[in-house]
Amino acid sequence: MLTVSRVVLCVALALSGTVRAAETDSIRLSVDAAKGGAKIDRHIFGQFAEHLGRGIYEGVWVGPDSKIPNTRGIRNDVVGALKAIKVPNVRWPGGCFADEYHWRNGIGPRDKRPATLNPNWGGVIEPNTFGTHEFMDFLQQIGADAYLSINVGSGTPAEAADWLEYLTTSQPTALAKERAANGHADPYPIALLGIGNESWGCGGSMTPDEYVNHLKVYARYARNYNPSHPMRRVAVGPDGPDTGYTEAVMKAWKNKTWAWDIEGLSLHSYTVVKWPPAFKATGFGENEYATLLKATLNMEGLVSKHSAVMDQYDPEKKIALVVDEWGAWLAATPGSPEGFLEQQNSQRDALVAALNLNIFARHADRVRVANIAQMINVLQAMIFTRQEKMLLTPTYHVFKMYVPFHDATFVPIDVAAGTYKSGDIELPRLDAIAARDAAGKLWLSLTNLDPNRAVSIDVAVSGTKVTSARGLTLVAPKIDSVNTFEAPGAVTPKAFSAKAAGKSLTVKLAPASVTVVELE
Ligand code: AHR
Repeated sequence: MLTVSRVVLCVALALSGTVRAAETDSIRLSVDAAKGGAKIDRHIFGQFAEHLGRGIYEGVWVGPDSKIPNTRGIRNDVVGALKAIKVPNVRWPGGCFADEYHWRNGIGPRDKRPATLNPNWGGVIEPNTFGTHEFMDFLQQIGADAYLSINVGSGTPAEAADWLEYLTTSQPTALAKERAANGHADPYPIALLGIGNESWGCGGSMTPDEYVNHLKVYARYARNYNPSHPMRRVAVGPDGPDTGYTEAVMKAWKNKTWAWDIEGLSLHSYTVVKWPPAFKATGFGENEYATLLKATLNMEGLVSKHSAVMDQYDPEKKIALVVDEWGAWLAATPGSPEGFLEQQNSQRDALVAALNLNIFARHADRVRVANIAQMINVLQAMIFTRQEKMLLTPTYHVFKMYVPFHDATFVPIDVAAGTYKSGDIELPRLDAIAARDAAGKLWLSLTNLDPNRAVSIDVAVSGTKVTSARGLTLVAPKIDSVNTFEAPGAVTPKAFSAKAAGKSLTVKLAPASVTVVELE
């Protein structure tokens, strides 16, 4: 029976946002290790690095003369942290910035490069010291592929075609010789090419049909001349639920001639409750926690909706759905520069990351690339820097815990997820995925959305014998717990293990936690 004092306690906990193991009951989850689905493409763990705020300058680039330890101007601490999460690809140079970027400003001797403007993001000076070669050097240092966005909004097909020739040809053309003179004789590999960015918005306010006309031209002339490294072309796609772009691009692709092609369609969708983003990144209560997680779970409906349209034109799923901008977009950190999109990153963001990644994994047959926005110091970042200091966020830790899911085979699970209620919001209490890695090991990711109740998961595994579970759990004292430069380890994963008792393996999850385990 709920006594008055317990009610008072529950209300107090809810108001304070404190995470407590108040009640535990159990959920049954069964998994057949012999079953398998699509490959969870490692490219769904991609990053996005725009020339925006302190994302590139300070976040990645400090220059060779900096006292911050660096390799050819790229900070070593950041490279080390990104290598540990095995970043598969980085989307660059934007975003809205890409449709105003002219690549020639960013090559050649750095002291001769022009200062230009960045009107989208604070109207600051763009020094162009981080350009094509610096980006490719950064990728080589972290071991990631290039996802380049070309300028459709204010550029020309010739400008884009020249950039691709400059980057990828091994023939002795004038552009290849210029590349060699700038320090790189060999052609570069470009894995992904975004043809414009948000052409329905900051990329030119085009109708779907207007964009399709541009797409055909750019997809033809922005060629990859490096045949040993195939390049996938990604068309601009929908803004949230609107299927106008999805229909127009997919229809054009279905009826295309030999002269052009694409391999991907982009989808942008942020976890944002209303515009302009007003939800606080810290100091929020349970209602804002539940509201934001509910908004996050809308990604499931969006991906299903656009996949269904794509299926009509492409039942063989040749075209990937590329969710190349996703993540929580919250109110900016008070006092941060206008237009820099700086926000703190809490345990709630860790859950936002896990829920989105689980949705992409469940749609692994169609969602084959995704890029969280953004990698460093911007929006739902992995990393914060403050001059010589670097900090890893709760979101970073989720990306690290998910490394075993890179290129693993999705394994379906059967679970009655239960319900977590907060006011009139009802969410599943548990969100989970399973996968088998290349070595045949079975992995589970388990997210307990309920911030008030721990939960026991009774895991029944068929197809293999399992006696224990071992991995990491990310749990925090409060739903808005964050890492700071003063307390960088407040939210870090802890070792986690469970042993089978008799025939059943029981895994106990703390409230508002993300747990990744290997079943042994
Ligand atoms: O990620 C910030 C901005 O959000 C990007 O530049 C743009 O594509 C989107 O609207």
